[in-house]
Amino acid sequence: MMQLRDKRCVISGAASGIGAAIAALFAAEGARLILTDLDGSRLSASVARCREIGAACEGVIADVGEVAGATAGVETCLTRYDGIDVLVNNAGMLTQARCGDITLAMWEEMMAVDLRSVFLSTQRALPAMLAQRWGRVINIASQLGIKGGAELCHYAAAKAGVIGFTKSLALEVSAQNVLVNAIAPGPIDTPLVDGLNSAWKAAKAAELPLGRFGRAEEVAPVALMLASEPGGNLFVGQTLGPNSGDVMP
Ligand SMILES: NC(=O)c1ccc[n+]([C@@H]2O[C@H](COP(=O)([O-])OP(=O)(O)OC[C@H]3O[C@@H](n4cnc5c(N)ncnc54)[C@H](O)[C@@H]3O)[C@@H](O)[C@H]2O)c1
Repeated sequence: MMQLRDKRCVISGAASGIGAAIAALFAAEGARLILTDLDGSRLSASVARCREIGAACEGVIADVGEVAGATAGVETCLTRYDGIDVLVNNAGMLTQARCGDITLAMWEEMMAVDLRSVFLSTQRALPAMLAQRWGRVINIASQLGIKGGAELCHYAAAKAGVIGFTKSLALEVSAQNVLVNAIAPGPIDTPLVDGLNSAWKAAKAAELPLGRFGRAEEVAPVALMLASEPGGNLFVGQTLGPNSGDVMP
């Protein structure tokens, strides 16, 4: 049985990596999808893949770092499918610099893309979810938001913010059956980490209990569990860690 049959789902940053893997898995489970991303050509490929799988799927080119772009996916879902059931706030960027070299512009861009967008899109989706007394919000944080990372102060701060936002909102809305949770992946082999220096990556892999980075397809099932019934029913304000053992709460 399909676990997300006809569920109306919005996934940001769905052109690549973890977002694209979640989109394909949700498509296979019967969801109706709105996918957003900055990158139009890779977004088209991801939309085409979901349609090939058999899902109703539409792409919206949007920059979640902009106020309007952060809510564009939810707006489209409300119009196209007359509501929203599942919101996956996945879009994110990563840059690396020592704290002293992080400019105000770098800091503010990181906060806008990796943190503010989560607040804005979720806030736009909430009235519809609360009215129907059913909703799932899944925020993609990072284990660096828990343990921190050298040369990643801005990224780790944004992701710690996502975790705090997730817990706080979960306290507000879970009684109305809107369940808000986060996933904090460890290092996953996606284009996001291509830009990190290779010495850092080698050292990182060596310190992981599993000894390797994860794959996007190994994170997507965690999102499916949180989105589905009964799998996600008892998760409230949690931060799940598909992280190769990097963090053990
Ligand atoms: N890869 C990892 O090791 C890792 C670990 C922990 C958390 N994460 C988080 O997982 C999420 C997905 O990352 P990924 O590894 O799949 O990376 P990715 O680079 O493969 O995918 C990220 C997607 O987000 C899009 N994006 C970036 N900025 C955007 C913006 N301003 N507006 C709209 N779309 C934008 C990109 O175009 C890309 O398609 C991110 O939030 C990231 O921080 C990744």
